[in-house]
Amino acid sequence: MKSGFWTELKKPFFILAPMEDVTDTVFRQIIAGAGSPDVFFTEFTSCEGICSPGRDSVSKRLRFTENERPLVAQIWGKTPEKYLETSKLLVEMGFDGIDINMGCPVTKIVKQGCCSALIDNPSLAIEIIEATKEGAGDLPVSVKTRIGYKSRKTEEWATTLLQQDIALLTIHGRTTKEMSKVDADWDEVKKVVEIKNRISPDTLIVGNGDVVNISQGNEYYKRYGVDGIMIGRGVFSNPWLFNGNIEFEDKSPKDKIDLMCKHVDLFEATWGDNKNYPILKKFFKIYIRGFEGANELRVSLMDTSDFEEFRSILRQFKL
Ligand SMILES: Cc1cc2nc3c(=O)[nH]c(=O)nc-3n(C[C@H](O)[C@H](O)[C@H](O)COP(=O)(O)O)c2cc1C
Repeated sequence: MKSGFWTELKKPFFILAPMEDVTDTVFRQIIAGAGSPDVFFTEFTSCEGICSPGRDSVSKRLRFTENERPLVAQIWGKTPEKYLETSKLLVEMGFDGIDINMGCPVTKIVKQGCCSALIDNPSLAIEIIEATKEGAGDLPVSVKTRIGYKSRKTEEWATTLLQQDIALLTIHGRTTKEMSKVDADWDEVKKVVEIKNRISPDTLIVGNGDVVNISQGNEYYKRYGVDGIMIGRGVFSNPWLFNGNIEFEDKSPKDKIDLMCKHVDLFEATWGDNKNYPILKKFFKIYIRGFEGANELRVSLMDTSDFEEFRSILRQFKL
């Protein structure tokens, strides 16, 4: 088994979850500056896309800076051959690890038999892992998945994956059908830890779902026996959360506005015309909350249509 950087991490380690259209290089740098997780993941990236002539539009997802290390590239796709080709490319690009998405529940993707649909197609899942490992050379290969597709299949599915000699397995404690509508079931995560202790003790297990701060993560580490914790939406409530000691409420209005401006400036500098300004709007509510005038400021910012308007609103805003 190639474990790479994973075995060098202190436990529990904390990972910023991959989030499509959120955790691009810009947001990862913002989080790295506010309080860095131990590991970053890219947004999920299509192997078919990366291997196609249109690769330039997809490769935005794989852009990164040295501040985001260790950085794992997350990939998805249909055919083992494309996983092999993509993995070779990811090695050349200098990633620290490769993760296979077997958890995304989005209908148009699972209809193609990809991502969480692989839970019901274990033979293809195995071929994909094999192909990825072949292309990955010395890089560690991991899988992120759920506990079932329509119904729970935790034991059967985790056993299949843990027989593949993978470096790490992230378990999001919900089925595909459950989307994010019910609470994540961490008792199922614990079952996976027990299976790995029996059949693949060197594979690391990461639990995911509904963790909102580091102290909860530390508690879950002890209670469920995982090696690491992955946090996604928690950063929407507190972008400083990986720091461990900073509550959002303790931050001044200026700190919040400054962090937003840093995000917007970096977005413009990084993407120029390659990503549209409106993509940024969903981030405003992360920063502009919990102080006098925040609601009005947020509403005004949501009405802006370019960087110029954004900056003009902030110039007029008096704390
Ligand atoms: C906006 C958004 C985009 C996501 N994109 C991805 C993705 O690209 N790859 C992936 O494996 N999971 C993706 N997820 C799932 C998260 O990584 C994570 O498993 C899920 O949000 C549960 O963790 P949380 O409760 O800490 O947010 C996404 C989730 C959200 C909210």
